[in-house]
Amino acid sequence: MSLSSERPQRILLAVTGGVAAFKGVLLLRELQRSGFDVRVLATESALRFVGEPTWHALSRAPVAHDLWSPGAGAGELHVELARDADAMVIYPATTRVVGSLAAGITDDLVTLTASCMNGPVVVCPAMHTAMANWEPHRAAKASLVAAGLRVVEPVSGPLASGETGFGRLPEPSQALEALARALAPQDLAGKRVLVSAGPTREHVDPVRFLSNPSTGRMGFAVARAAARRGAHVTLVAGPVSLPTPDGVHRVDVESAQEMRDALGAEFTTTDLLVMTAAVADFRPASITTHKLRKSEVGETPSLALERTDDILAGLSAVATGQVLVGFAMETSNLAESARGKLERKGLDLVVANHLHTAGAGFGTETNVVVLVSKDSTDELPLLSKDAVAERILDRVGPLVHERSQEP
Ligand code: CTP
Repeated sequence: MSLSSERPQRILLAVTGGVAAFKGVLLLRELQRSGFDVRVLATESALRFVGEPTWHALSRAPVAHDLWSPGAGAGELHVELARDADAMVIYPATTRVVGSLAAGITDDLVTLTASCMNGPVVVCPAMHTAMANWEPHRAAKASLVAAGLRVVEPVSGPLASGETGFGRLPEPSQALEALARALAPQDLAGKRVLVSAGPTREHVDPVRFLSNPSTGRMGFAVARAAARRGAHVTLVAGPVSLPTPDGVHRVDVESAQEMRDALGAEFTTTDLLVMTAAVADFRPASITTHKLRKSEVGETPSLALERTDDILAGLSAVATGQVLVGFAMETSNLAESARGKLERKGLDLVVANHLHTAGAGFGTETNVVVLVSKDSTDELPLLSKDAVAERILDRVGPLVHERSQEP
């Protein structure tokens, strides 16, 4: 999606006339934040709910709403809009718009433009429960799906009528996810991807542990990106506070040993393992089952440590063609140390970053990485973690296919 491509992708955000039109403003913001270039289209009735100046100011472009306006070039406006867009999202879509599209009636700029789209069209209906359950509307939705449009179903919740029920517009994040999936290459369709993320905790006693500041963001971004590309994704996560990406199977663990067992249970059927977790390299040699008292440890307490298993090296030793990606956070000799890990652990790719580079490392939204493989070293610029995830998958996707074709 737009996250890794050179040119920002253009999305047509079409708003139609329902009370939920105000949520379109939030979707506009989320799309912009995700790096999309957004052009707003509205029906005349949508503009009675949220006015033209709002859309114009936030999208920094005129709102397309008049069927009779000429295009910027020699052609017609709806043809130009559709031609220049990578995808369209109708948010919210009224009963009338869903019915018109299903019947092939193009009597306003939104339906006309939708009929000219080559790229994906995502439709997000929102209405009162009675209308949402109305059989002609349900049949219209089904025929949109049959025609290849993507319908994001309404959810249950508070409605404009003051009642609570089915028909509420899904949140902007759900519309964004549907768009991202529609735009993602399906190069991992049907493949099994296993991702580890976050820190591990190695307990000293029930209330104290050794850990590190990993937030899990990089691994969650990889899991999300792989799911968007059609993979079956299992995400083994240490203790982090992040929501599970859509369509991802999550297994929560705490210690390095639990992470090793959870990954081991999935590994044989995996096509690609991406090991982003900051696994503890050592743990207390013994855990006390009660809280240690100051009186027990004395004035100069010491902690005996033992090594944990190297999970990635252990899985690499029993691999049967899985593509293996490791991460390496270094404080010196970045590429050289990463290459050492690549060879020592038998990996296909190491994603290395430097702890002290601005914008890289623990807890940031961005990362600055070097991709090290057997025969190349690629330095990537400062990118969002989502964009880094896309670059990693772009890189290993062909290898996953090559390996799965080997006898
Ligand atoms: N890793 C692992 N099990 C461990 C430690 C690390 O599977 N016990 C994985 C990490 O998830 C990462 C890769 O190995 O993908 C490299 O981790 P890193 O800590 O940088 O490397 P180490 O092998 O621990 O080497 P060193 O401590 O010498 O830097």
